[in-house]
Amino acid sequence: MTPLSDKLGDLFAQHQPGYALPREFYTSQMIYDHDIAAVWNRNWIWVGHETQIPDPGDYFLFDYGPESLIIVRDREGDIRAHLNVCRHRGSRVCTESSGKARVFVCPYHAWTYELSGALRAGREMGADFDPADWGLRQAQVRLFQGMILVCPSADAPPIDDALAQLAPLTAPFGFENLKVVHTAHYPVPANWKLAVENYLECYHCAPAHQEYARSHTLKSPLQMEALLPAMQKRAAVSGLPTTELNLTGPDAIAPGTDVYYRRYPLFDGYKTGSQSGEPLAPLLGTLTDFDGGATDVSLGILNYMLVYSDHLVGYRFVPRSVQETDIQVVWMVRNDAEEGRDYDPEALTWLWHVTSQDDERIIRHNQAGVNSHFFQPGPLAEMEWAIHDFYNFYRAMTGLPAA
Ligand code: FES
Ligand code: FE
Repeated sequence: MTPLSDKLGDLFAQHQPGYALPREFYTSQMIYDHDIAAVWNRNWIWVGHETQIPDPGDYFLFDYGPESLIIVRDREGDIRAHLNVCRHRGSRVCTESSGKARVFVCPYHAWTYELSGALRAGREMGADFDPADWGLRQAQVRLFQGMILVCPSADAPPIDDALAQLAPLTAPFGFENLKVVHTAHYPVPANWKLAVENYLECYHCAPAHQEYARSHTLKSPLQMEALLPAMQKRAAVSGLPTTELNLTGPDAIAPGTDVYYRRYPLFDGYKTGSQSGEPLAPLLGTLTDFDGGATDVSLGILNYMLVYSDHLVGYRFVPRSVQETDIQVVWMVRNDAEEGRDYDPEALTWLWHVTSQDDERIIRHNQAGVNSHFFQPGPLAEMEWAIHDFYNFYRAMTGLPAA
């Protein structure tokens, strides 16, 4: 065992099952570096949608921790993800966050890479130098109904079977025909795991989210159960299956292949996640009516989506440093919806803008308290079951058995 895994082993030994993680998991640079290497670099990350790069040469960067990926459509029309690290002496190759390129030219000594990542030429490198050996390193790419997932590791979690089981459930939403209409960033001075944990539980929803709690039943499991049968009937009529798929935690096919699908009812009077309860955009995919529900979807362990009948809201909790996380919220509607005519961006983003502001505040205060030397991990509530699964996933990625 390396000194790091000894140290992690000691820390996990202090972790009592059913309790929050010890303080150091949220304060230590060593744990943070480990999180990037063992969790982020080895898992599927949802970076965007293929409509963001429709033509060959279109690209955008996706950055997390010390890493940067170039997501690009190559000449053949395939989507690729290159590690944005020059094979010469390591400079960032691409420094613009998005654009259109014919080739990628390193700004340092001008090594020139094709859209495919192959090195076209390295200047004055001598007769023995073979550019074929020095292409950009590739991350793996999966397209799930237009959603782009990437994993930098060669042994990425084998997620294909899980995605195949999820596919018929999400098919009616027509994910492949969505477009991103707004991305908001909520930087929070907290470790990324606190941001994920906050997303995974709705124990805080009733006290912390006034606006959300008005329309969403997740804050109250009993009320949700009571409204579920009527919503399921409406969903069936509108062409949406309501079967739950929970291949997460102990039921995941392998660590990091977690997928989740659950449709649950909004309160009566709410057709979607809007302030008034009224629709915000045209119905998604093949849906024929509003069923007054919302679907939680997870793709892998790091990517979460909330799908209403007329729009999708996606979440990522992107690490920037030990105690800096960029909460990214992405709003998507049908590709053919027109701003102004079919949707009003302000109304569309209202709910998850105010809710994310609340979340930023409570996560910030959470980290501040966890930083105290008097913090001792407390017991998790039943409504925090998904955090327990997250800890077990985290243990598995670290090579430790489930607690
Ligand atoms: Fe890129 Fe030298 S570091 S060409
Ligand atoms: Fe919240």
